[in-house]
Amino acid sequence: MAETFDLLIRGGICVTPEGTIRADVGVRQARIDEIGDLGAADAAEVVEAAGLHVLPGAIDSQVHFREPGGEAKEDLASGSEAAVMGGITAVFEMPNTWPPTTDAAALEDKLKRAKGRMYCDHAFYVGGTAENAQGLAELERQAGCAGVKVFMGSSTGTLLVAGDEALREVLSHGNRRVAIHAEDETRLEQRQHLAEPGKVETHPVWRDEEVAFLATKRVVKLARETGRRIHVLHVTTSQELALLAQAKDIATIEVTPQHLTLTAPECYRLHNTFAQMNPPIRGARHREAIWQAVSDGVADVVGSDHAPHTIEEKQRTYPKSPAGMPGVQTLMPLLLHHLAEGRLSLERLVDLVAHGPARIFGLGDKGRLEVGRHADFTIVDLDHLWTIRRAWLRSRAGWSPFEDMTIKGKVKGTIIRGVRVMWEDEILGAPAGQPLSFDETLDL
Ligand code: DOR
Repeated sequence: MAETFDLLIRGGICVTPEGTIRADVGVRQARIDEIGDLGAADAAEVVEAAGLHVLPGAIDSQVHFREPGGEAKEDLASGSEAAVMGGITAVFEMPNTWPPTTDAAALEDKLKRAKGRMYCDHAFYVGGTAENAQGLAELERQAGCAGVKVFMGSSTGTLLVAGDEALREVLSHGNRRVAIHAEDETRLEQRQHLAEPGKVETHPVWRDEEVAFLATKRVVKLARETGRRIHVLHVTTSQELALLAQAKDIATIEVTPQHLTLTAPECYRLHNTFAQMNPPIRGARHREAIWQAVSDGVADVVGSDHAPHTIEEKQRTYPKSPAGMPGVQTLMPLLLHHLAEGRLSLERLVDLVAHGPARIFGLGDKGRLEVGRHADFTIVDLDHLWTIRRAWLRSRAGWSPFEDMTIKGKVKGTIIRGVRVMWEDEILGAPAGQPLSFDETLDL
């Protein structure tokens, strides 16, 4: 008798840990059950994938979905809708909401809000502060927690751990990898006068290379001192990358699609404050260094740092304009663009958005197209030529610096735990995202 699966993805080119192969994928009970020639098999649902590439579900390990407190910019529902439209199957959401996510009640509140409203799987970071440091070891082990995030420099929101003493205190409590926004607050304060009103091109002058390098140097030293693994977010300078390449035992590295795509000063001429983010988009030399880190294997993951603000807010006169740009929906499209342009291989792309995050954050169920893992897939058509348009965007912010960019390669579908959630730009079914299970939180 023919085998029966819940879902069968037939005839796609699958990017598996063992290589890129043409194969069918059979799904049973939300997990990958078989990969191979399943020609005779039957299934409740069949996805014909001839001519398409089947990737393990992409994970965006840095998004700001603004709920609670910033719902005019985004909420968990709209942010997750943008995610699945862009082929993202799981997100780690950041704690600089209002109130900030700094205790168990705030974390539980976010998990409760996510239930039945988020389309993708999810976990929430807790913000580390001098005040809650003692409780972080317990907090980071709560179900649905992505770990601890620290802002070393002020950005959107109130979270800040500026000095070495407080940072040492945070790093000394707990075990999981701590995610770091590395900008040095003291130097930021000293240089604030360099941010010239109305001149967003001075943003990377104020928040210069040294602001980022100093903070990264300090946190690597403290990570060694305390024996704590760190994950340095949105790395933007060649100096930091040289330092971090020598610290791979203790530090992992995130780079963003926008720092791989845009350069100063052109981005400020073209997009004005809509290209303003922290840490800033810098000159071409740094973009090349980030690409080098991608090809050398120094960069571990690509995260979008999806940081939506409304058009009205972004139109304020610099530096009153908030920093950050939406990106969860354009992460995969931009990487597919760079793939088509020959800047990275499909296997490296998958490593950066699936294998990498699963490995470094300990997601045993996800991130690999192999038997036993969750049946999460990002299905792409590498030949599809299309243009990013505002009408396609689902973030409540309603804009992207990448509007009108023509791209070869399109996300065709998003499948989460065996369920088609998005197909050909249409969201299917009700939101059914689940909290993520990390290796270090399984016993709870
Ligand atoms: O540009 C940024 N925006 N950088 C951050 O660190 C925070 C983010 C936000 O939340 O708006």
